Amino acid sequence: MKIGIIGTGAIGGTIAKKMVAAGHQVFVTNSAEFVELEKRANELGALPSPLKDLVKGKAMVVLSVPTIAIPGLSKTLFDEMPPDTIIVDTSNYYPFRDADIEEIKNGKVESVWVAEQIGCPVIKAFNNLLAESLAFGGRSKGAPGRIAMAISGDDPKAKKVISGLIDQAGFDVVDAGNLESSWRHQPGTPAYCTELNVSDLKQALNDGVREVAAQIRDSVIKLFAERTTQPSHEEIVEFNRALFPKNPKSE
Ligand SMILES: NC(=O)c1ccc[n+]([C@@H]2O[C@H](COP(=O)([O-])OP(=O)(O)OC[C@H]3O[C@@H](n4cnc5c(N)ncnc54)[C@H](OP(=O)(O)O)[C@@H]3O)[C@@H](O)[C@H]2O)c1
Repeated sequence: MKIGIIGTGAIGGTIAKKMVAAGHQVFVTNSAEFVELEKRANELGALPSPLKDLVKGKAMVVLSVPTIAIPGLSKTLFDEMPPDTIIVDTSNYYPFRDADIEEIKNGKVESVWVAEQIGCPVIKAFNNLLAESLAFGGRSKGAPGRIAMAISGDDPKAKKVISGLIDQAGFDVVDAGNLESSWRHQPGTPAYCTELNVSDLKQALNDGVREVAAQIRDSVIKLFAERTTQPSHEEIVEFNRALFPKNPKSE
């Protein structure tokens, strides 16, 4: 499959590597000059593409940039995209990084806002696992304790295609519902960056409380910012799990 990825950072870069390893033809772009982009694409085993060409001829386009960068993408960027191209949104809104986006602060579901900004439907995926979980936590199908990823969106066919790619990346999938339901795997929910298996993720998606998620997200960021040492990946997952009584505790 031809896949275009906008953003070659922690998540976009990891998705690129995983998709290359699974045999897909992956094109990437970022905000750097083309020479720098070429270097990064080489590191990832992908092909560099100027942003203006990134969507052309692709079966799937992955948006993996900070939320604040999305309105800055050209309004005509998606005009030359084939009509059946699937767009995946990996973004998570963090006010400290993305500044004030009033509609999201007032409760609009993040990926619904993203879809409105780009004028195309999106599927939310790859947002509820840390980049390190994605890079190193994959297991073969059926392996005990295989981590599950949440996806949401309005197009069942697109979700099926993405689920296949997620499986190739080493993860099970739990469908959280339509795009409006994707708040259930936004930051501040039990499903967010807690490395759960299918049954625990289903439970966590069910247990999220929309009204308190943003407050929990901000308190977690504040607590981590106050630390004098950088928490390890395991500590972050353990901390996230412990925020919600029904989540399994790390061993
Ligand atoms: N990190 C995680 O664990 C994680 C997990 C799940 C979801 N997410 C979400 O996924 C998104 C990406 O996160 P990340 O951690 O990968 O961020 P990151 O490491 O900061 O990388 C962001 C990428 O976006 C590119 N970019 C920014 N503005 C752009 C523009 N206007 N046009 C083209 N490329 C642009 C950057 O280009 P340059 O390389 O040139 O700077 C960079 O490659 C965020 O919304 C984040 O919340 C992150």
